[in-house]
Amino acid sequence: MASRGRALSLVALCLLLELALQGAAEHLVPAVFVFGDSMVDVGNNNFIEKCDIGCQANYPPFGIDYLNHKPTGRFSNGYNMADQLAQLLQFDESPPPFLSLSNESLSTRMSTGINFASGGSGLLDVTGNGPVCTQVFSMTEQVRSFRSLARMWGSLVRSSGRKDRTAADLVSESLIFISVGSNDLFEYADYITKANISSSNRNDTEYLQGLIASYTSYIKALYAAGATKFGVLSPSLVGCCPLQRALAKEFNVSDQSGCLGVANNLSQQLYPMIASMLQDLSLELPDMSYSLGDAIGMAGFVFKNTSNPHLTFDHACCGSGDFGENVCNSSAPMCQNRSSFFFWDRFHPTDAVSAITANELFQGPAGRFVHPINVHQLVAP
Ligand SMILES: *[C@@H]1O[C@H](CO)[C@@H](O)[C@H](O)[C@H]1NC(C)=O
Ligand SMILES: *[C@@H]1O[C@H](CO)[C@@H](O)[C@H](O)[C@H]1NC(C)=O
Ligand SMILES: *[C@@H]1O[C@H](CO)[C@@H](O)[C@H](O)[C@H]1NC(C)=O
Ligand SMILES: *[C@@H]1O[C@H](CO)[C@@H](O)[C@H](O)[C@H]1NC(C)=O
Ligand SMILES: *[C@@H]1O[C@H](CO)[C@@H](O)[C@H](O)[C@H]1NC(C)=O
Ligand SMILES: *[C@@H]1O[C@H](CO)[C@@H](O)[C@H](O)[C@H]1NC(C)=O
Ligand SMILES: *[C@@H]1O[C@H](CO)[C@@H](O)[C@H](O)[C@H]1NC(C)=O
Ligand SMILES: *[C@@H]1O[C@H](CO)[C@@H](O)[C@H](O)[C@H]1NC(C)=O
Repeated sequence: MASRGRALSLVALCLLLELALQGAAEHLVPAVFVFGDSMVDVGNNNFIEKCDIGCQANYPPFGIDYLNHKPTGRFSNGYNMADQLAQLLQFDESPPPFLSLSNESLSTRMSTGINFASGGSGLLDVTGNGPVCTQVFSMTEQVRSFRSLARMWGSLVRSSGRKDRTAADLVSESLIFISVGSNDLFEYADYITKANISSSNRNDTEYLQGLIASYTSYIKALYAAGATKFGVLSPSLVGCCPLQRALAKEFNVSDQSGCLGVANNLSQQLYPMIASMLQDLSLELPDMSYSLGDAIGMAGFVFKNTSNPHLTFDHACCGSGDFGENVCNSSAPMCQNRSSFFFWDRFHPTDAVSAITANELFQGPAGRFVHPINVHQLVAP
């Protein structure tokens, strides 16, 4: 997709810049910048013309528990994890979707944050940009857009002549929040399952190393643009989502939990690779710090938590089929009590479950499901 240019009104900008540099004392960080996939997309895909409708969420009943029951493009019944983490940082919700912003407002939005995430995207540029979604806003484009905005923002602040606080400070004090990788695993696991490619005829390690190489390049590019604080959420047990359960059943490869084991195995192998990538980068890049959320551990925590005995894991709230694996739209069946379901639709958690994850990321004890520190510690001045 073509990169959007930026034509700006300097006078308006300098006024807003003034406000931005002074203000927003109540937020725990100046701004939040969100990257990744549908776990955190708040409507970018609404603006991608060729994006398949199955990769958009701007129609009912998505958003049924959001303000005014409004479908916004969030892949949730209510708020998603980007909103919930932003709320814990004392914002109202996630920053707005990048693709919804006018050229004039883009630069001023840098002061409180922008959400670049696009449902269906992955670590690889091909992920999502094919039969699954037709077109998404890839991680490469998300990161490139942030870099060009950060560069422009920096030159504006310099030209405003302020000495006390610089644009570089603003970006480096802000939180970068990334949730990506699940769609790469979905597409790969789908492919090897449907084509029945045995483990001796493929090299998972090589594939996963390719994902890590891409991940490394994004983090380095964000760092080069001035970012230093990274909140990263790993892919979860992707093989247990309703669509993968249905696939596992169809191909007779369900594990003991009824999940697509090969997909969960990939997530389990990827997690330590992400952990060592981040650790290595934090040693290599001065002042770079991070909080890695272990989504696999967190899912297990919710699955096994005996205070949630009635939480339904193996069926989506919205969607027909054995597992609720068919599309969620206004003709699909919907459950009665949405907070008693783990999955809202065939891929995504309910608002209730993503809130548990966001809370764990923000203030969970360091060393349990967040490593080496939680997001609250990460953003502490
Ligand atoms: C933003 O600016 C670019 C070029 O500067 C232009 O191509 C694009 O149409 C503009 N977008 C909007 C929404 O005005
Ligand atoms: C998949 O391949 C294995 C051998 O690698 C074979 O035993 C099995 O029958 C195949 N399954 C299907 C559904 O073709
Ligand atoms: C898989 O790929 C990795 C990385 O390229 C390589 O080190 C390893 O030997 C390969 N494994 C097999 C079984 O070919
Ligand atoms: C799965 O098992 C069922 C019953 O054993 C069989 O009818 C079906 O053909 C199998 N499907 C595949 C893809 O192997
Ligand atoms: C998952 O990984 C384990 C250990 O590496 C292996 O024994 C098992 O066969 C794998 N399961 C699937 C479904 O790939
Ligand atoms: C179970 O989940 C609740 C929140 O839903 C949490 O307060 C509690 O600590 C959890 N208990 C265990 C044993 O994980
Ligand atoms: C919901 O999706 C199903 C399956 O794709 C489709 O047949 C139906 O027309 C859709 N309903 C609406 C209201 O879009
Ligand atoms: C809905 O489910 C939640 C979580 O299991 C439970 O706490 C609540 O009481 C349920 N509400 C109703 C109306 O059944």
